[in-house]
Amino acid sequence: MCGIIGYVGHQQVQNLLLDGLHRLEYRGYDSAGIAVLEGGQISLTKKAGRVQELGHAVAEAPLQGHIGIGHTRWATHGEVNDTNSHPHFGGDGEICLVHNGVIENYSTLRKKLRERGFEFVTTTDSEVVAHLLAYEYRQGLEQGGRVGSQQLCVDALQATLIQLKGTYGLAVLYRDCPDTMYVARVGSPLVIGIGDHENFVASDASPLAVHTEEVVYLSDNEIAILTPDDVQIIHRDSGAVDLKIQVLDQSAGDSELGDFPHYMLKEIYEQPQSIENAMRGRFDEDEATAVFGGLNMTAKELRKVDRIVLTACGTSWHAGLVGEYLLEEFARIPTEVEYASELRYRNPPMSENTMIFSITQSGETADTLAAMRECKRKGHPTLAICNVVGSTIAREADGGIYLHAGPEIGVASTKAFTSQVTVLTLLSLFFGRMRHLSYPAGKRIIRHLRDIPAQVEETLKCHEMVKYVCEKYARYNNFLYLGRLYNFPVALEGALKLKEISYIHAEGYPAAEMKHGPIALVDEVTPSVFVVPKCGIYPKVISNLEEVKARKGPVIAIACKGDEKIAELADDVIYVPDVEEYLQPLVTSIPLQLLSYHIALHRGCNVDRPRNLAKSVTVE
Ligand code: M6R
Repeated sequence: MCGIIGYVGHQQVQNLLLDGLHRLEYRGYDSAGIAVLEGGQISLTKKAGRVQELGHAVAEAPLQGHIGIGHTRWATHGEVNDTNSHPHFGGDGEICLVHNGVIENYSTLRKKLRERGFEFVTTTDSEVVAHLLAYEYRQGLEQGGRVGSQQLCVDALQATLIQLKGTYGLAVLYRDCPDTMYVARVGSPLVIGIGDHENFVASDASPLAVHTEEVVYLSDNEIAILTPDDVQIIHRDSGAVDLKIQVLDQSAGDSELGDFPHYMLKEIYEQPQSIENAMRGRFDEDEATAVFGGLNMTAKELRKVDRIVLTACGTSWHAGLVGEYLLEEFARIPTEVEYASELRYRNPPMSENTMIFSITQSGETADTLAAMRECKRKGHPTLAICNVVGSTIAREADGGIYLHAGPEIGVASTKAFTSQVTVLTLLSLFFGRMRHLSYPAGKRIIRHLRDIPAQVEETLKCHEMVKYVCEKYARYNNFLYLGRLYNFPVALEGALKLKEISYIHAEGYPAAEMKHGPIALVDEVTPSVFVVPKCGIYPKVISNLEEVKARKGPVIAIACKGDEKIAELADDVIYVPDVEEYLQPLVTSIPLQLLSYHIALHRGCNVDRPRNLAKSVTVE
């Protein structure tokens, strides 16, 4: 949530910051702003609304300079308006900063600062940091510090940070320092881009890939000092830190829209490839199993695992639910899926050999990170199934599996879901082959998985039918999504997709649970989306479908090609290829993604930037 960009170097900074903010906009889009330091003066422009609005504003009054910071906001404290937008000034303008995170003790600090004579113009928690830093800087000057000296600036920043409770990613300009930017983090991600006589900082690598391949991921409690020719990192407790430069695994083009009208559609269409990428190099045909390079555990340790906990939020939690079914079926390991936001504060009994997997696209979700840390504290092996390389969860986990899905920019997660399910299938095969699964069964799973990318490609051919169905149903205001076994999580995921981008109320349920309450909702204007491909309990799901029809509920069925019978029962049918039952989520989820996409378009919603949401939820 919130995107930060900063630059110091030889280029004019305004357009570079704007471009960075466009690329970070998926992290939050309530407002945007930039500040530029030039000739001992910090100039600032900020606007409620999209980065585009900010672009119009600076086109009329350009900002000149070679050092600057920018921010795109997802509001936590203080309403969305121009004033509350970042950057914020501290003191009488000697400090200017952008902040991503939440300062929990902001009201106590604000009270103290008011008593000291500081005037607040915003209702944000972030302005508190700016004034506090100005206060500490002035204190340093009074105690003999040299104006604008690096030591003074670092000391003031350290003195400020130790008073903050909460989370922050900060990029700071001091009016007295014409070519130095200071950045710091606890809990909110920051990546430093190393350039040629120029250096960058950003909340994630997406705006950096156009400028450099070399990055340094800042860790909690580190401060970085950036000048055009140097980057220094200092840890709060241990002092100077060696720069661990890493090569970015994404190119600038990965985050381009290409010929697609929206990122969501592009990412839906990338799924044959992203699923293939999730499997690449991970089959051991001779042993009929999967292989993972990064679990960092011995076979002996892995065999001892007697329980698995999958923890995640949102779509990743739904993937976890599919994972539970897979792991229990193929590996016979008792598995539970925990909402990370609950697990972080719960204290469930866990045996010594319980293994934790945090499932996350971004690797930055605050609740997932906190749940992982809590489990780690208790001594459990904590692994990550993660897409973003170098993200906090990826770095803090004991080991893990990358999705290799490429950047997912659309706020509604699509390709990450199918990649997570793919990796969880491989994981079940892996654990299964260490325990009860036979060689022929392992071979069979590999064969089925290898066919999946082509079958997903085939599934995408349902697009025209989905468009037709959307024409009919886009005006309805309540939907039920129903499925059983492997397609129950798919029903949940379909409902979430519709809610988040179309703002339509939708409920996902196990189809048979419906008669315990939700069936009361069924009427002529409440369509039910039945995920009903061929499976062991197909006739049972059909009975549930008939129960809805008997109550005049319109039914859209997602069914297997060749299923003639369903066309007689449902009002509309979207066909998908007939795949093994345990792989069905990889195909049945796709028409549901397309359905929510087209309904959102019909209703004039912003598909890639749905209201109130942000791509990575880095606040609690
Ligand atoms: O980055 P993560 O996978 O940890 O994100 C978890 C959820 O915030 C995310 O899946 C969210 O529910 C999506 N907007 C769903 O489309």
